[in-house]
Amino acid sequence: MSPLHLLLLLLPLAYSLTVTIPSAVQNASSLPLRVSSELASLASLDAPKLSAINASAFDWWYFDVVAREYSLVCTFFAASESAFPFLYPSSSVLGAYLWLEKDGQVWHAHFPASLALLHSSHPDEIAGDWQDAGFVFDGVSHDDHLVYQLDIHTANLTGSISIQAPMMRNEQYLSEIGWVNPLPDGTAQVSLVLDGKEISFHGSGYHDKNWSNQAFASRVSTWSWGHAHLVEQGRSVSLVWLHVVSPANETSSAVYLAINGEILANYQAGILSVSSTENTTRVAVREEFVFTFLKERVIASNDPYYFRWAGREMDRPGVVLFEQFTL
Ligand SMILES: *[C@@H]1O[C@H](CO)[C@@H](O)[C@H](O)[C@H]1NC(C)=O
Ligand SMILES: *[C@@H]1O[C@H](CO)[C@@H](O)[C@H](O)[C@H]1NC(C)=O
Ligand SMILES: *[C@@H]1O[C@H](CO)[C@@H](O)[C@H](O)[C@H]1NC(C)=O
Ligand SMILES: *[C@@H]1O[C@H](CO)[C@@H](O)[C@H](O)[C@H]1NC(C)=O
Ligand SMILES: *[C@@H]1O[C@H](CO)[C@@H](O)[C@H](O)[C@H]1NC(C)=O
Ligand SMILES: *[C@@H]1O[C@H](CO)[C@@H](O)[C@H](O)[C@H]1NC(C)=O
Repeated sequence: MSPLHLLLLLLPLAYSLTVTIPSAVQNASSLPLRVSSELASLASLDAPKLSAINASAFDWWYFDVVAREYSLVCTFFAASESAFPFLYPSSSVLGAYLWLEKDGQVWHAHFPASLALLHSSHPDEIAGDWQDAGFVFDGVSHDDHLVYQLDIHTANLTGSISIQAPMMRNEQYLSEIGWVNPLPDGTAQVSLVLDGKEISFHGSGYHDKNWSNQAFASRVSTWSWGHAHLVEQGRSVSLVWLHVVSPANETSSAVYLAINGEILANYQAGILSVSSTENTTRVAVREEFVFTFLKERVIASNDPYYFRWAGREMDRPGVVLFEQFTL
């Protein structure tokens, strides 16, 4: 065989990742998985992070799109009920959850899966298939942009969601809850048909994933997270914040802030302060950039422990989607 043939034969074998997650809670140690040496690749960011979903483990993939009148949140869960307290009672740790909202009216459903299959044959791409739920995501990073496409085929809901951004962000860890945020702010298109009715909108899109092998409530006492796409004096502002206080009263925080593509805070810790009132959440980055977000529409809730809102900022046009846990 010529050397070229050998090379061609070897190339497709050079990178391959296939992980299946069964639907039953595993009685096993849930250990951190490290994916090859391709640390900054899309496949490594979106690969499963735990060796097993035991009764205290969660590992999930989160996507949202927010616009002035609409919002959509879609989460691919691999999480046991005892690890994450806000799941529907289900015999499966696998489920796709979807919230679709227009002007404060929310449609919500969850779709159990029989098996999750994560597959990648190249470091720049990865797909996740929540089998029998009818939910698939597919991420691809190109030289100058990345795209996630979600495809949905269920009995009464079908269609697709695509989110793209000019660059991929890198891996981040937040204390004992793992967090990666490959796509902090992108442009998104939603085209769905729900019970025969078409729902299409453009918006600001976001994707992250988080995981832990210890129950959420053992790590979190309060949690404020959100992301915004705003305009200030003709410049676009992208913001992601996360502020967590643990039951032992330890604070961890991270903030990403970019103005016109220039990154002013790169998931930095310790420069964020967050405070909330009944109708607003104030987010300050080094007390230099101060945002007051209005809780205009409740788009998901588990009163009094959890709220997710869509809204706007007091002084800058744009959109925000944010949430608060108080456990
Ligand atoms: C879990 O595994 C341990 C060790 O193998 C075993 O002792 C225990 O009985 C198992 N528990 C269940 C609920 O299967
Ligand atoms: C799951 O695995 C992790 C890592 O071994 C362990 O710390 C944790 O206690 C396990 N959870 C349960 C419920 O056994
Ligand atoms: C973790 O997942 C939850 C649920 O999908 C999501 O709302 C939240 O934004 C994620 N947290 C972080 C820090 O990414
Ligand atoms: C659509 O399917 C979901 C999931 O099976 C269900 O919860 C919902 O009630 C169905 N119909 C409508 C109109 O939402
Ligand atoms: C928690 O820590 C903050 C400082 O980070 C402090 O102001 C507060 O008093 C502490 N709360 C408790 C209950 O210890
Ligand atoms: C919050 O908004 C509600 C509804 O608009 C209003 O009734 C209430 O007075 C507001 N609360 C504060 C503290 O401004």
